[in-house]
Amino acid sequence: MKRYVIGNWKANKTEREVVSWFTTFAETVKEKHTIFSSHIHIVVCPPTLYLPLAKKLRDTFSLPIELGAQDISSVVGGAYTGEVVGSQLQEYVTHVLIGHSERRMHFHDTEEKIQEKVKQAIHAGISPVLCVSDSSAAIPKGVALVAFEPLFAIGSGKAATPEHADSIAAEIQSRHPSVPVIYGGSVTKENCKTFVAQKHIAGLLPGGASLDPIEFMEIILHVVSS
Ligand code: PGA
Repeated sequence: MKRYVIGNWKANKTEREVVSWFTTFAETVKEKHTIFSSHIHIVVCPPTLYLPLAKKLRDTFSLPIELGAQDISSVVGGAYTGEVVGSQLQEYVTHVLIGHSERRMHFHDTEEKIQEKVKQAIHAGISPVLCVSDSSAAIPKGVALVAFEPLFAIGSGKAATPEHADSIAAEIQSRHPSVPVIYGGSVTKENCKTFVAQKHIAGLLPGGASLDPIEFMEIILHVVSS
């Protein structure tokens, strides 16, 4: 099974901290370069503002990682002050998170808007990673990856049990057999292995734990060896 580790930095880090993260991560890659293979997708999602910098650092250090955006506009472009659209993101990212619960909760991302965002991502050639908090969520056509993230587990330090996460992933997969499901919500270097040991979980979406490049690398190593 193809594995995924997607780090969601949310609205964290300054420019200087972005440079520091990549510099430290590059050091750990040098030590562990043998771990990377075509079986794992490692995606880092910094704040949009830092995507050009992150791309430059990724290329400078020749890091075997991809970049992702944390959101995408539901419109194509034009007179929409403040929006960042697919044709702009596609220069930097391969993936985009859509429908994260924080966007649904604080920024009124409705199902309709989420569907539009998925369309815009596909139109721009970016893989949509749809975040859902239960197995009944609508999964629009063209979604590349589903991240199951129970609300109680996000940023709480209280992850779901691996068995619960696996049962939800199995339900999602029964309706969408070709879409891999990953788990997110208080993933740490300690608990990550128990999730990827489950039959239906193809990877992880750590938030807080991705902010530290060393912990992020430890999670990657656990996923690779699972
Ligand atoms: P967390 O965030 O790992 O800090 O709980 C995960 C997420 O919200 O994607």
